Amino acid sequence: MRKYFIAGNWKMNKNAAESVALAEELVRTMGQQYDVDAVICPPFTSLQGVARVIENSTIKVGAQNMHHEQSGAYTGEVSPEMLRHLYVSYVILGHSERRTLFGETDAFINAKVKAALHNRLRPILCVGETLEEREADRMFEVVETQLAGGLDGVEADQTDLLVIAYEPVWAIGTGKTATPDQAEEMHRRIRDWLKKRFSDSVAERIRIVYGGSMKPSNAADLLKNPNIDGGLIGGASLEGRSFADLVKAAAGKSK
Ligand code: PGA
Repeated sequence: MRKYFIAGNWKMNKNAAESVALAEELVRTMGQQYDVDAVICPPFTSLQGVARVIENSTIKVGAQNMHHEQSGAYTGEVSPEMLRHLYVSYVILGHSERRTLFGETDAFINAKVKAALHNRLRPILCVGETLEEREADRMFEVVETQLAGGLDGVEADQTDLLVIAYEPVWAIGTGKTATPDQAEEMHRRIRDWLKKRFSDSVAERIRIVYGGSMKPSNAADLLKNPNIDGGLIGGASLEGRSFADLVKAAAGKSK
């Protein structure tokens, strides 16, 4: 069975105090959610404060990035061990903003995925095509290349920790959502790829979530598809009410 997974990617928003306030609001309003994995991913500077707030709730905390080495001369970077020490459970890797604005390659992302798994952090591996790639009908090829690169060397028995986020670049922060059919078509493709790469049973267990302008008003139509197992939410996760509504939209529906 796949439990729905709803994660908020706060990106470079909310200072430490604002993050604590939003986390407190979520703990207060959402209550204990046992049938949805609800995760919030604040900036690094807020991880410690947020981790304390959510300690006794069912909400988990995630980071938005990390380096693959455990320590050393990597100015400005944060290691898997540092995240583990703060009780971080998840880490977003390969987000399109990291790929395009910071030049992250599939090989670099792959090193991080392996380091995350090695440290028992749960990677949320992001894949997705640009508008140009979709218009040239290359979206499947692009996403499959990102999957092959990002998961290179990953063993089937490590995949219990893995979440895949399909985030079409043209839908991120633009207000343009992929239609439920477009998203489901890609999610099915990703699951088929995972079947070939690992096995049927492994592929059936991995959550594949959608990201790109997902909000309470379009969540139900996306989530009812057989291969859409949740969402990675940017803009709509910055407001307590809308994130709580997204979690509610997923509650009681795991498949
Ligand atoms: P968005 O961002 O919901 O603001 O489109 C999603 C993401 O980038 O993870």
